[in-house]
Amino acid sequence: MKILIVYDSYFGNTEQVAKAIGDALRSHGSVEIRRVHDVALEQLQEVDLVIVGSPTRAFRPSKAIGAFLDEIPPKGLEGVRVLAFDTRLHAAETSSRLFNVLSAVFGCAACPIGEKLKRKGGKLLAPPEGFFVTDSEGPLKDDELERAADWALRAVNALGLGNTGHYPHEATGHIPLPR
Ligand SMILES: Cc1cc2nc3c(=O)[nH]c(=O)nc-3n(C[C@H](O)[C@H](O)[C@H](O)COP(=O)(O)O)c2cc1C
Repeated sequence: MKILIVYDSYFGNTEQVAKAIGDALRSHGSVEIRRVHDVALEQLQEVDLVIVGSPTRAFRPSKAIGAFLDEIPPKGLEGVRVLAFDTRLHAAETSSRLFNVLSAVFGCAACPIGEKLKRKGGKLLAPPEGFFVTDSEGPLKDDELERAADWALRAVNALGLGNTGHYPHEATGHIPLPR
């Protein structure tokens, strides 16, 4: 299985999550981790799973992630599995009531990323997920890297491909005949 992880990151937290997910999935196939500015749209045609992650900025994905998703042509992700994640503050744990309320109303980056990936034809393997930073610039809360790795592994394992991450026909080079 070919996996492409696309992320944006200002302070390095989302990048750490992207790398933790990449490390976790390496036993399931080839993993490429790319900052959003370094991704060519053509790369999307060659992959089985695309994972997109962004810091939450003003309740949305970063501008670069938004622009990247907009550039994907309609049906550009047809037949591709997708996952979406973000990093964010834990609204209930911040001292600002206003931020808490606005977060509840306007949400975070992962959900619109997931929606856009689906709109382009992608098949979401799991609900979009958020990983928490302790402050605006980080660091990540304890155990978030482990949680991210676990989230991605569970989503991919649900495909039932076993540890190799190969579809049965990939091992032999041909599609097995139905019994
Ligand atoms: C300008 C700015 C806006 C932000 N807006 C939000 C927000 O709306 N919701 C939220 O949960 N966190 C928000 N944050 C915190 C970011 O989510 C946090 O900076 C991000 O997770 C760090 O990831 P990075 O190191 O990959 O950039 C904001 C931070 C900045 C600097």
